[in-house]
This record gives sequence, structure tokens and C-alpha cells, in this order.
Amino acid sequence: MAAITAENLTITYEGVPAVEGVTFEVERGETLLLLGPNGAGKTTLLKTIACFHREYRGELKVFDMPPCEARELIGYVPQSHSLNERVPVTALEVVAMGGIYKRGFSHFKIPKHVLEKAEDALNFVGLSNVQGKLFRELSGGQKQRVLLARALISDPKLLLLDEPLSALDPSARAEVSNVLGKIKRERGITMVITTHDVNPLLEIGDKVMLINRRLIAFGKPEEVLRDSVIKSVYGPLARVIPVEDRLFCITGDVHLHGHGGGGR
Ligand SMILES: Nc1ncnc2c1ncn2[C@@H]1O[C@H](COP(=O)(O)OP(=O)(O)OP(=O)(O)O)[C@@H](O)[C@H]1O
Ligand SMILES: [Mg+2]
Repeated sequence: MAAITAENLTITYEGVPAVEGVTFEVERGETLLLLGPNGAGKTTLLKTIACFHREYRGELKVFDMPPCEARELIGYVPQSHSLNERVPVTALEVVAMGGIYKRGFSHFKIPKHVLEKAEDALNFVGLSNVQGKLFRELSGGQKQRVLLARALISDPKLLLLDEPLSALDPSARAEVSNVLGKIKRERGITMVITTHDVNPLLEIGDKVMLINRRLIAFGKPEEVLRDSVIKSVYGPLARVIPVEDRLFCITGDVHLHGHGGGGR
């Protein structure tokens, strides 16, 4: 049984398609890198898989179930986290919230077993040293790792990550991609990761999907990341350069949070 099956999937907002006629499959344990310019429909697709958005037609199954029946199996790390940084919560409390919301506990007092799980999760992402620190005082890479720990605490079988590397400097990007690699290797969790920059994630990506409202290409990285394919979406300046036994993909696509972007 596949982790995700989509067949001729069209996702709409009040009838207007944001994703159109997309067919793909993600096997269990695989990591899919979801690539596409601003407004391509990446977040929309992720939210629909997570059952946050329900206006679609065609077929969409998560572990052979409609997405909303598979909710307990799904962890979601949003594009820009929705924590109010004026509230002084510690890293540990942020992680523990992942266990509380999912199981419907009151959030006035965090149960001990949830705190213990939160400590384990922080340890897993390499942050046990900052568990008592305020979330707002952490670096960008540390914050992102805390959010990964928060998603891990409910033992998801499928982890959906919306641009986990955006707004991070190169060393923080490496930190976060290392943790993603560890999640894949040690937990075997199926992941779908949206990104504007595929390069830091190529090592863990089993498949790449390029969308621009419609499906442009889907397959192994070397099948999708070809000069002609990339140029067809990002324009003539985009290219794929082989560097030793790896590929380096230049799209000129900068994430500008909805203010247009490179090369559409
Ligand atoms: N809540 C909404 N209501 C109406 N239209 C929406 C809504 N959210 C997104 N859209 C539209 O759906 C399309 C796809 O948006 P989406 O956010 O999924 O793109 P994206 O690939 O994630 O872009 P980015 O790289 O900028 O994050 C866009 O045309 C957008 O305007
Ligand atoms: Mg998005």
C-alpha cells in the first residue's frame, strides 16, 4: 500500500483550480521533494493531503484512506509557523504542544509523559541543551528543529513539511537538512518536503515532483532535474549542472512570500 496516491487530482478554492489534474504516488518510507515557483500550488497540495483544505476532485488517498481519516498518521510543519512570539514559551513547551493538541489535553498543565516525550524529541533533533530556553530567543535553524520535534512527538507515519529551509542561512539549512536525513534513516517516516531550493535536500530525496499548477515532471531526481525540464518552468537562465556525481539545480527562484518571484 502506498503512503499517498493521487489520481487526476484537481484542488480548487471556491471553484477556481490551484492544482489541476495531478497524478502521482509516494511509496512508504520515501521522501518526495515538491518543487515549483511561487503560486505553483505546493502549499495547497500539502494542505489537501493533511486534510486542512477539502475542496478537491479526483482521487486522493493517504495510506489507502481519504486524507481526513488518516489525520492521526500525519504530521504537518507549516510554511511560516503560527506561534505568537510575544508569548514566552520555552522550546520544550512548544514541542509538548504537539502532543497536547493531538490528544485533546487541557493546555494549562502539560502531563509528565508528554513532557518526557517532548524531551526525547528535542534530544532527537539535537537540542536538549536549549529545552528551557524561550522559543523566540532561538536561532532560525533551532526554531525549525523545535518545530520538527513538535511534529515528531505524535509519531506520524507521514510528515508534510512546507519549506522547512526557507529563510535560513546556509549553515542553518545544513543543520535542518541533517535532521531531516536522520528522520528518514532512523524513523523511516514518509516525507513530502516543499522547497524552492532542491540542492540541500537532494541527498535525501527519492523522488522529485515539479508542479506549476499542473504536473510538469515526476520521478527520480535525475529524471526530473534535466535542463530542458527546469528551463520550461523557470526560463532560459535556469539550468542543471552536474558536479562530480551530483546535480546542482539553479532555478533563480527566490521565495518572496507571495510578492511574485523568480522566473514564472
Ligand atoms: N486560501 C486561498 N484562497 C484562494 N486562493 C488561494 C488560497 N491559498 C492559495 N490560493 C491560490 O492558490 C494558488 C497556489 O497557491 P499556493 O500557496 O499553494 O502556492 P505555493 O506553490 O505554495 O507558493 P509559494 O512558493 O509562494 O509558497 C495561488 O494562485 C494562490 O493565490
Ligand atoms: Mg507555499
